[in-house]
Amino acid sequence: MSRPGHGPDLVILTGAGLSAESGLGTFREKDGLWTRYDLNDVATPEGFERDPKLVRDFYNARRANLREAEPNDAHRALARLQRTCPDQVMIVTQNVDDLLERAGAEALHMHGELFKTRCAFCEAVWTDQGDLGAEQACPSCGRSGGARPDVVWFGEMPMFLPQIEAALEHCRFFASIGTSGAVYPAGGFAAQARRAGARIVELNLEETEISHIFHEALRGPASEILPPWVEEMEGRLARSPWGC
Ligand code: OAD
Repeated sequence: MSRPGHGPDLVILTGAGLSAESGLGTFREKDGLWTRYDLNDVATPEGFERDPKLVRDFYNARRANLREAEPNDAHRALARLQRTCPDQVMIVTQNVDDLLERAGAEALHMHGELFKTRCAFCEAVWTDQGDLGAEQACPSCGRSGGARPDVVWFGEMPMFLPQIEAALEHCRFFASIGTSGAVYPAGGFAAQARRAGARIVELNLEETEISHIFHEALRGPASEILPPWVEEMEGRLARSPWGC
């Protein structure tokens, strides 16, 4: 049960590092996606207007990778934590993959979802694991030429912000997992939770540019450091006056 009127006790923010061991690339590390592609070309509304084929090909390649990928022990650990303490744990992810869901977790996808297509004309959204194409007709308005991934591009508004911000104001614990903290507003969530009184922890393979703001840091691959951390959190949440 969550604290009456206060939402989840623990807010978790995840990034590309959570899915790295499932074979999905990160963005800013050596060989990361943004070292091989110009994000202005493939992750902005202007890039899509300029060259929709380039953008669709980029996301079709990412969909193909995701179709082959499997959740890892880090996704499974988070799913277990949420199962044990359903209303106490909010998972917010910047990842557009569905590996948390396939592991049994529920997450707010603030940067959208790769396996969803959006019509650029009427904003209809539908589930779609196949290739994006210029000829694809929108099931709602019937027009073709507007199919784009339902992901948030630079210059667009992240999703679920009011819900996330409300949770950050009241949580007692905040964890940043496998994210560089380089992209805002997500990069500011840890500081926001700390200002509101939460104990904040960073779980990452390496130090990040925002590591100095955390009370505590756990270093290592997510699949190794998450399972023991989850066990510890289950204990802490169970000891809270509201239980799990
Ligand atoms: P980044 O590529 O910026 O950072 C990935 C982080 O994961 C780094 O801090 C790594 O140290 C860490 N990492 C890598 N492998 C790991 C592992 N096995 N275990 C634990 N940590 C590991 O990716 P994000 O922070 O997710 O947005 O990037 C944020 C946003 O930037 C993305 O959602 C995407 C991108 O542009 C949009 O496209 C809108």
